[in-house]
Amino acid sequence: MTCFETILYERADAIAWITLNRPAVLNAYSVRMRDELHEIVQAIRDDDEVRAVVVKGAGEKAFCGGADLSEFLTAPSVIEARRIRALRDLWGALRSLQQPLIAALHGYVLGSGMEIALFCDLRIASEDVVFGLPEIGLGILPGAGGTQTVPRAIGLSRSLDMLLTNRRMDATEALSAGLVNRVVPRDALIAAALGVARRIASFDPMIVCDAKRAVREGLDLSLEQGLKLEQRLVARARRTTGSSRTN
Ligand code: COA
Repeated sequence: MTCFETILYERADAIAWITLNRPAVLNAYSVRMRDELHEIVQAIRDDDEVRAVVVKGAGEKAFCGGADLSEFLTAPSVIEARRIRALRDLWGALRSLQQPLIAALHGYVLGSGMEIALFCDLRIASEDVVFGLPEIGLGILPGAGGTQTVPRAIGLSRSLDMLLTNRRMDATEALSAGLVNRVVPRDALIAAALGVARRIASFDPMIVCDAKRAVREGLDLSLEQGLKLEQRLVARARRTTGSSRTN
């Protein structure tokens, strides 16, 4: 286990575990956390042995209570706080990570916490989960991709409802909206995430990464371009494996 100031990082066999570790402040997302997450994501990108990544939050109350409000309040201005945050492209690094990311979500998942979860490929939540985008009530816009990633996951109407009215979403609604893949009891959350990570890790890693890439990149393309991307990846897989497993 590697201890950073705000993150715990551990790799067990082919599975990497990232724990947001500021439980006293509901794992609030700080500049320090951004830097440490960025370093860890780069290390995972370069580590061929990692086949799946689980992101979770320490403590009982939250996966992440959003951006560290004490930093926003002490920065000379919100614009300055945002400028400092943009100095490292954590969101780009997360988005382009080849290996699948699984979010294990409990308690409050607010603001940047929800945005981190949305950069993950699969989301498993415990029954006590509460999603929310409080930014507008604080006089700011979501700045970690939320205006783009949330509608892609749950559609226009639900996203605007959460964003414009600060309405929170519980586990039942999150499941029916497609915001999470499954809901489990709180004490089963880590085992459920581990089960999913192990299953993914048991498959051919190149096929897994290419399947993720085809779906993620394809969503930003026309159907025609997406089908071409799929065919390129299928052809490459055939060349690499020499097999006819792909259709
Ligand atoms: N940034 C910095 N500190 C935070 C935080 C954040 N986003 N969210 C919670 N904390 C701190 C609280 O200040 C408190 O610290 P303290 O014990 O020194 O007073 C501690 O975490 C526990 O939070 P608390 O408010 O006592 O818990 P609660 O169960 O009563 O309420 C929330 C939980 C999530 C409703 C409440 O903490 C909250 O509204 N947090 C801010 C959420 C937010 O607006 N995030 C920013 C999104 S952009």
